[in-house]
Amino acid sequence: MMSDNTAKLTLGGADTNYAVRQGTIGPDVIDIRKLYASTGAFTFDPGFMSTAACESSLTYIDGDEGILLHRGYPIGQLAEQSSFMEVSYLLLNGELPSQAELATFTRTISRHTMLHEQLSNFYRGFRRDAHPMAIMCGVVGALSAFYHDSTDISDPHQRMVASHRLIAKMPTIAAMAYKYSIGQPFIYPRNDLSYTANFMRMTFGVPAEDYHLDPAIERAMDRIFILHADHEQNASTSTVRLAGSSGANPFACIAAGIACLWGPAHGGANEAALNMLREIGRPERIPEYIARAKDKNDPFRLMGFGHRVYKNYDPRATVMQQTLREVFDALKINDPVFEVALQLEEMALNDPYFIDKKLFPNVDFYSGVILSAIGFPTDMFTVLFALARTVGWVAQWNEMISDPEQKIGRPRQLYTGPTQRDYVPVSKR
Ligand code: CMC
Repeated sequence: MMSDNTAKLTLGGADTNYAVRQGTIGPDVIDIRKLYASTGAFTFDPGFMSTAACESSLTYIDGDEGILLHRGYPIGQLAEQSSFMEVSYLLLNGELPSQAELATFTRTISRHTMLHEQLSNFYRGFRRDAHPMAIMCGVVGALSAFYHDSTDISDPHQRMVASHRLIAKMPTIAAMAYKYSIGQPFIYPRNDLSYTANFMRMTFGVPAEDYHLDPAIERAMDRIFILHADHEQNASTSTVRLAGSSGANPFACIAAGIACLWGPAHGGANEAALNMLREIGRPERIPEYIARAKDKNDPFRLMGFGHRVYKNYDPRATVMQQTLREVFDALKINDPVFEVALQLEEMALNDPYFIDKKLFPNVDFYSGVILSAIGFPTDMFTVLFALARTVGWVAQWNEMISDPEQKIGRPRQLYTGPTQRDYVPVSKR
């Protein structure tokens, strides 16, 4: 039972009351921090379906309405009118920058793009066929061994320097992972280029010739970075917060986030969506795949469809679809995979199974097609996601460390193992 500002729980005949807190928007939360002390009971919520694990002022999602706001600004407006650098500033600092603030921030980030030269030796320790996410986990974790002057998390200045370093070095680290895998020399950053153009040059440029980037592709990539910049308390962000709650250094926390993001249910879905669209191949084959997705005895799911939070069109998918058109126009690509994607989306959106279960395209439905058209191999897709999400991770990590109520994260459990029993020596078993 919930009254105006309290919720009453009756357990074993005794009543206890819990404060009900309101955010600026979104569902109320019942503050159960004293539940165990008052009743001796825990709540049970695997997968955190109904648990707010922290207080945050960064990102808001209304999954039923298909709304995503960063510091209050709708993602569609940011993707259309802003830049990744500006969105990074917004997430880190809470407000949009003035022109001068944006120029200073952009300059600061570009001055941190180089890696300690010693770090390039790390790459040579990996096999050439190593997955770039494995390389990312290792190299990002190793940053803590190189930048000792930004690992004191109690110092807000050091926290900001670590945040800037991570945002700035991620494109260099990601591009080097790619170059290593294809046996090309590492390309050093160029600070006169935009954040995105610099990353593209380090990835696709070679020392033997000049690199030219189509402005439409630069814009598309920047927009893809914006769309992935933050997404509230998702699995990898919660991992970063949990790792950081013990006081671990920021580079180690972000490496933990990268490890979590790697999984196919999180960052790996765009690769799966692209593979699925290619496998379907022709619009005539779509009904067969829709039927499979609906068949309870078939494990197949429509990849890039459905979301734990969005029960409406993912607002990022809307921008992705538009971006895909722009990229295909700029590159003069006429790939049947786009037609398959559009028709699959339309058929699914008109099918009672998908309507009833509120399954809509998510951000991954179109992003794999775009990234592949631009020239990225599929195992780089999640790396690009990690690169962009780093700003969200560091902003959330900073918010957590600055929170005076911050405690080490320590979930409890419902124990279902054996009760106490006596040890039997191996000779008697
Ligand atoms: N195709 C067919 N059926 C589906 C799909 C799908 N893509 N997604 C969910 N369902 C069905 C599911 O079978 C279940 O049916 P029933 O109630 O009859 O058992 C119902 O819808 C609810 O699904 P769920 O798995 O209980 O929902 P969830 O919130 O645990 O899972 C999800 C969300 C994203 C893991 C799931 O929708 C899925 O596997 N989608 C495909 C993978 C994908 O696109 N992942 C990217 C997520 S967005 C990227 C990010 O933010 O990291």
